[in-house]
Amino acid sequence: MARVGILTGGGDCPGLNAVIRAVVRRGLDDPETTCVGFRHGWAGVMKGNSFELTRAVTAGILGRGGTILGTSRTNPFADGADGTDQIRATLAAQGVDALIAIGGDDTLSVAARLAEADVPVVGVPKTIDNDLGGTELTFGFHTAVQIATDAIDRLRTTAESHDRVIVVEVMGREAGWIATYAGIAAGADAILVPEWPYDVDEVCKLLWARHANGTTYSIVVVAEGAKPKDGGESVSHEHVDAFGHARLGGVAVSLSAEIEERTGYETRYTILGHIQRGGTPTAFDRVLATRFGVAAMDAVLAGRFGEMVALRADEIVLMPLAEATNVHKLLDPRLFEIASVFFG
Ligand code: F6P
Repeated sequence: MARVGILTGGGDCPGLNAVIRAVVRRGLDDPETTCVGFRHGWAGVMKGNSFELTRAVTAGILGRGGTILGTSRTNPFADGADGTDQIRATLAAQGVDALIAIGGDDTLSVAARLAEADVPVVGVPKTIDNDLGGTELTFGFHTAVQIATDAIDRLRTTAESHDRVIVVEVMGREAGWIATYAGIAAGADAILVPEWPYDVDEVCKLLWARHANGTTYSIVVVAEGAKPKDGGESVSHEHVDAFGHARLGGVAVSLSAEIEERTGYETRYTILGHIQRGGTPTAFDRVLATRFGVAAMDAVLAGRFGEMVALRADEIVLMPLAEATNVHKLLDPRLFEIASVFFG
C-alpha cells in the first residue's frame, strides 16, 4: 500500500498537469496506491495543505497549462532553517509514504536534501529554461521555444515594414537554450545568451554588415540572463526569492537604447516574459511529461528514492537527485555555432 504525495514547485511550466495526471493514472494500476496533491509546492507540504488526487480530479487536465496544485518558490531551508522535521510530521499525519517533487533546480535541491535525510522522495525535472543537469530535456522547454518562435515570426514582419531593429527578450536565467532554439527557428540576426557576455559593439557590427548587404531591418534575440562584456549587470530588480535568485527581466530595454544610439537605426524591444510559460503544452511536451510521470510513479513503487527521472538518448532513466541539481546544463557551443552561421 502506497500513499504518494505530489507537489509542483518553482515557476509554472506547460506540462505540469500532464505529469500529475500520469502519476495518478499509473498509480491506479496498483489497487493499493492512492495519491494526494500538496498545494503550492513545499509550502503545502510544510503546512499539510493537501487534497485527494483521483482519476476524476485529474480528468481533462492533460493539455491544460499551469498546475492544478498551485506552485510557489517556498524553501523549507531558507535562511538557515531546516524544515525536514516539519515535512516528516506532515507525511506522518497524512499517512503519506513517499513524495514526488516536480520542479526545477531549486525545488529538486530541496528534494535532494530531504532524500539525504532519508525522506522518501523522487524528482521530476521541470523548467522552460531547459538548464537542469542530467536530463537532455525538461518538459515545457519545447512549448516555450514554439511560443518564442511564433512571436519572433510576427515581430519580423513589423520590423521589416518599419525598417527597424527589434530586440526580443526571452526567458533563460542561466542558459540560452530558449534564445538559441527560437533564434535558429525564427532566423535571428544576433543571439545573446548568459553563457557568453556580449559586446554591444560586436552586435552593432553585425547589424551594420546586414544593412551593408541591403537589408533594412534586424531581429536580435536576447536571453534575460545575458550580461554585457564590460562587466555591467543585466537588469535585475530588488526582489530576491527564497532561493536567493534576483528577479530578472529588462535587459532588452538598455540594449535596444544602446543599439539605436550607436547605429542610428530605429530600434524597439519586446519582452516576451511569462507568455512563454502560460497556456497549453505542445504535443511533444505532453508526451515527455507523461513519460516522466509514469516513470516517477514506477520509481516510487520500486523504492528508488533520492532519484530523478531523466531523458537520455530518448530513454527515461533514473539518476541521483544530487547530481542533477549541482550543475546547470549550459548551452552546447556547437548549437550556438550553428546559430551564428546566420548572424549579420
Ligand atoms: O522557471 C524559470 C524562469 O522562467 C526563469 O527563466 C525566470 O527568470 C523565472 O522563471 C521567472 O520567475 P517568476 O515567475 O517567479 O518571476
